[in-house]
Amino acid sequence: MATISFANDIQPLFTQFRGQMLWRLDLTSYDQVKANAQLIYNRITDPNDPMPAAPFPPLTKDQQNAFKAWMDGGMLP
Ligand code: HEM
Repeated sequence: MATISFANDIQPLFTQFRGQMLWRLDLTSYDQVKANAQLIYNRITDPNDPMPAAPFPPLTKDQQNAFKAWMDGGMLP
């Protein structure tokens, strides 16, 4: 993947879970995901307490890596 952007690559991973996390942050908001990026990454890769929470399966390794690559690439909108 050449360029990873929030709109094309990250938001689609999170849209279906927006409602369950609105009490804390809006996972479809670029500004809010950017502001909480490290916290989000820590939880999507947490083997003991992963997000999305049960009964949903964790994000795949490729999806986790895409989020990391988005962070490392400067969190483009
Ligand atoms: C990819 C999807 C999701 C992401 C990125 C995500 C992210 C996060 C993050 C970063 C926290 C920690 C907040 C903090 O420490 O202030 C959290 C907590 C929480 N999330 Fe999610 N979440 C997702 C999906 C879900 C879903 C689907 C549910 C419910 C089925 C859920 C329920 C909760 C609950 C109850 C907490 C508080 C308890 C805890 O920290 O374990 N989340 N989530």
